[in-house]
Amino acid sequence: MPITYDSDNRIFKLDTANSSYVFEIFEQNYLVHLYYGGKIPDANLKEHKYKGGFASFSPVNINIDDDWFSPDVSMFEFPCEGSGDFRESAFAIRNPDGNNTTDMRYVSHEIYNGKPKLEGLPSLFVNDESEAQTLEILTRDNVTGIQAVLYYTVFEELGAMTRSVRIINPTSKPFEIERLLSCCVDFNTHDFDMITLYGKWFKERSVDRMHLSHLTQGISSKRGSSSHHHNPFGVICDRDATEDTGNVYGFNFVYSGNFTFKAQVDGFAGTRVLMGLNPDAFGWILEAGEDFVAPEVVMVYSDKGLGEMSRTFHKLYRKHLIRGKWANIKRPLLINNWEATGMDFTGDKLVTFAERAKELGIDMLVMDDGWFGRRDDDTSSLGDWQVNEEKLGGSLSSFIDRINELGIKFGIWFEPEMISRDSELYRAHPDWCIHVPNREKSIARHQYVLDYSRKEVRDYIYSLMYDVLSRNKIDYVKWDFNRNLSEVGSAGFPPEKQKEIFHRFTLGTYEILDRLTTDFPDILLEGCSGGGGRYDPGMLYYAPQIWCSDNTDPIERLTIQFGTSMCYPASTMGAHVSASNRAGYETKGNIALWGTFGYELDPNKFSDEEREIVRDQVGEYHKYYDIIHSGDLYRLITPFENPWRAAWMFVSEDKNEALVTSVTMRRPEDRSYFLRLKGLDEEKYYVDDESGEVYSGALLMKAGLSFSRYGMNDGDSFKVYLRAL
Ligand code: DGJ
Repeated sequence: MPITYDSDNRIFKLDTANSSYVFEIFEQNYLVHLYYGGKIPDANLKEHKYKGGFASFSPVNINIDDDWFSPDVSMFEFPCEGSGDFRESAFAIRNPDGNNTTDMRYVSHEIYNGKPKLEGLPSLFVNDESEAQTLEILTRDNVTGIQAVLYYTVFEELGAMTRSVRIINPTSKPFEIERLLSCCVDFNTHDFDMITLYGKWFKERSVDRMHLSHLTQGISSKRGSSSHHHNPFGVICDRDATEDTGNVYGFNFVYSGNFTFKAQVDGFAGTRVLMGLNPDAFGWILEAGEDFVAPEVVMVYSDKGLGEMSRTFHKLYRKHLIRGKWANIKRPLLINNWEATGMDFTGDKLVTFAERAKELGIDMLVMDDGWFGRRDDDTSSLGDWQVNEEKLGGSLSSFIDRINELGIKFGIWFEPEMISRDSELYRAHPDWCIHVPNREKSIARHQYVLDYSRKEVRDYIYSLMYDVLSRNKIDYVKWDFNRNLSEVGSAGFPPEKQKEIFHRFTLGTYEILDRLTTDFPDILLEGCSGGGGRYDPGMLYYAPQIWCSDNTDPIERLTIQFGTSMCYPASTMGAHVSASNRAGYETKGNIALWGTFGYELDPNKFSDEEREIVRDQVGEYHKYYDIIHSGDLYRLITPFENPWRAAWMFVSEDKNEALVTSVTMRRPEDRSYFLRLKGLDEEKYYVDDESGEVYSGALLMKAGLSFSRYGMNDGDSFKVYLRAL
């Protein structure tokens, strides 16, 4: 049993294949954390609950006859505001009498197989109850009567856990939730590094690493989306942890709105790690009898460094996050017209794209932004989801027929959460966008954000989308989101509920995504937000793939894809070959293969030679699809550390196949290049598909694969496909 409760010592132990997470019900029913790390067989950890001494300044609980217990220096599962623990808290409520002292204590618990769904929120799921086990702990504030249910689900085989919280108000008075973080882990050491993913539009998810200091450090978003700037992902790891060694704790928030990830190191050298809704941009009035569920945090532990952590996230997400028809069947190889035409296209022009696509073996044409209203540039028409038949040269269905008759599937672009200032919808309903009274609305890309906290707004937009999708043969939808939320308020809610609007907006988006994926289960959904501005597990629950970045320069894509791979699998990474000329088609293809693969250019412009390369690439896409989409990723040389080259490889689960790719970013100093491979079977012999040379797995991993037969100019790249004999 992965979850056990020792009733004599009142200790919970949550085990996975490689980790143990242990906490106790201490005196007075405090939930005190004891340990999270490599798997241990026993739980004699009583001595671990203290982080050090405390001073006369530290409040104590007079009912506890233990000179060493103070909330100030204890490790807690769900630390609260105002009751003697002065560090960052996970929970605070503003009581009807005006104070915000909160103190949740254990009441009861339940352990069961499976994993509950979180209403209205994306979350990891089980295909079968035996795949996970859940511990639910009921806690209560004895003064106010407010309750919190802490959820811990253990995916034993995968070294992973999830945590979330449900707040219940069983009283007759409303309370205000001021802060609610889904997960807190206290460690009794601070010898850690923190790794996060930072960026901006066109340069998402670069890897950043720092030593933890005696302060509160972390990342957050209050943009109304997870954002280009920081991903809701963070790592706490040993200071000397590497790609292959060391203790690593990965945290990922299954949410697409405001978040925070923090590590606070205190004066006793303990570290508190927190993740959840960003308290700076959140508040919730919990009416009598209501409850509120916080989004979940995924926690992955690895004792074999960052690479193993990433592979665990990848497996976990492929099996327990990505849903629906497209989770396990081959995705279509698509061509998207955006970079080639922008909004300056006609139906006839796109038909030529489909004709060329057919000749090259591409499966699907995606018509991007510009097919609706009067949208010839980005100044108008979002919200007016009526087909521009003049542009398409007829109805949408007759246009799709022309594409389908060529044997090509059809996909379409939407930006459902937005409204252009210049739109029929805005003229009819100026109060349907997020705004606050008497204040100028900031504009971004000439658009406002629709107020998805309001049901009538969601229903209206969905009815337009439903109309387009139900009347036409559409196989794919790209769901875009091109600005952040400012002046956040809603005309649909009273003043005291305005703090809820950020979260209500995200819940509104999830509701539409849920309706869309339920009504159209065959449609493949690709998430997008000006590239990868909303690349998070929340979106992946609905959209199995997400456009990684608007930056399709292949060399720039290396850092973007390396960073993204920290927790997101290749099968989710929207990656296309574009007309960018920083490298040739071969290299562009080799890099885009590490993702969903496709094209983002005008195929009419290919030279004969390029056409041949693309035909070969399409063949490679099919040949390597399985190993990339379901194999294990090993990052061999990361462009964050090596200015000359990057290299990575995929290994099939049975270790019988491997695909190694290396890209030269700048001509390196070394004349010969031996790349030490990873993840192979030492005992097996592998044949290089192209040269016919045979090597042992041991040789390839210890002496390395020689790349000296390949050229090493800027932008060159090589692939080696190895098969076990
Ligand atoms: C931003 C996306 O990232 C692009 O791929 C494209 O769809 C444009 N929006 C369209 O406006």
